[in-house]
Amino acid sequence: MPKYKMRVNGDDVELDVEANMPLLWALRDVLGLVGTKFGCGIAQCGACTVHLGDAPVRSCMVRMEDAAGQSVRTIEGLAEGIDDAAQPARAGVDHGFRDAELGAATRAHPVEGPKRHQ
Ligand code: FES
Repeated sequence: MPKYKMRVNGDDVELDVEANMPLLWALRDVLGLVGTKFGCGIAQCGACTVHLGDAPVRSCMVRMEDAAGQSVRTIEGLAEGIDDAAQPARAGVDHGFRDAELGAATRAHPVEGPKRHQ
């Protein structure tokens, strides 16, 4: 397998992956950056969007051989530098906003529904 060098969230990395592997799977499966999500796999939903260079791209459609040598910023990279006041939101980013965590947050902070008039 070829090795590809790139910069991910400010860190230099070398990935030993197939040339046609989508950037999405390299980020998630090889680097463990699971904040980037798989949705449709056909460039329609945007769940896999990352910045490649300065441009947002659908990482499910970018092959590793095309991404090599470039800089990538994922949602984890966007979370860097957030101050302490934003820690709960940052924790959500770090854990990829899993449904269970959102459900727990909802239960801890109930929101009153609309009142019925009788
Ligand atoms: S997974 Fe939907 S656009 Fe990439």
